[in-house]
Amino acid sequence: MSTVEIKNLHKSFGPLDVLKGIDFTVEAGQVVCVIGPSGSGKSTLLRCVNLLERPTSGQVFVDGTELTDPDVDIDAVRRRLGMVFQQFNLFQHLTVLRNVTIAQERVLKRGRAEARKIAGETLEKVGLGEKADCFPAQLSGGQQQRVAIARALAMNPSLMLFDEPTSALDPELVGDVLSVMRELARDGMTMLVVTHEMGFAREVADRVVFMDRGAIVEDGPPEQVIAAPRHARTREFLGRVLHPEH
Ligand SMILES: Nc1ncnc2c1ncn2[C@@H]1O[C@H](COP(=O)(O)OP(=O)(O)OP(=O)(O)O)[C@@H](O)[C@H]1O
Ligand SMILES: [Mg+2]
Repeated sequence: MSTVEIKNLHKSFGPLDVLKGIDFTVEAGQVVCVIGPSGSGKSTLLRCVNLLERPTSGQVFVDGTELTDPDVDIDAVRRRLGMVFQQFNLFQHLTVLRNVTIAQERVLKRGRAEARKIAGETLEKVGLGEKADCFPAQLSGGQQQRVAIARALAMNPSLMLFDEPTSALDPELVGDVLSVMRELARDGMTMLVVTHEMGFAREVADRVVFMDRGAIVEDGPPEQVIAAPRHARTREFLGRVLHPEH
């Protein structure tokens, strides 16, 4: 069964058609990377998958539950999704540990001891076991982003959504975040990742989806979409991303 299934998804903001009939699936355990120019609708697509935006029409299923069903329990669906954005959105006045336990306690109703134990494990997993008692301001951007990943993982998501998780980071901090994501993929996490990191997409993605102007232009394995694109628009985009100096 697919973890995510998107059928003929449309999203408009007033007269602006941002998503013009998107269809694709993410199978359990797969990593799908979404690439495309600025304004092509990538973030809007992810926001429709976690219901931060209501699709105008079409269907989205997560683990077989139709999110677009008006009677769906949105909170129950959201509990299955881990989300990591460009901005880490950590609570600045709380320690790293508390940032990772708070939703476990409030949303999943875990006891404090259990939440701390799980937080310790997920912080260890992202390489920040020894930073539990720090405040976010005492960490680098890359470390803060890894805390945001640990916080999402602590909720035991069946799917992780990433929206340009490394694009706010200094170049030398990108690698550590990508390593954590690579490891998650290796562990079998299902992941939908909007990224400009073509090296990561090429190495880790099972499929790459190229979007332009609200539609999918190309969807296939990275060795096709990135290494041997069939469409002129994909070639042009990749040319700009891979050789920005030209
Ligand atoms: N809430 C909104 N209201 C009106 N227009 C919006 C809204 N959100 C997004 N848009 C428009 O939808 C289009 C797609 O935006 P989106 O953020 O999905 O693009 P993107 O592919 O993620 O771009 P980027 O690579 O710059 O992040 C843009 O033209 C944007 O201005
Ligand atoms: Mg975006």
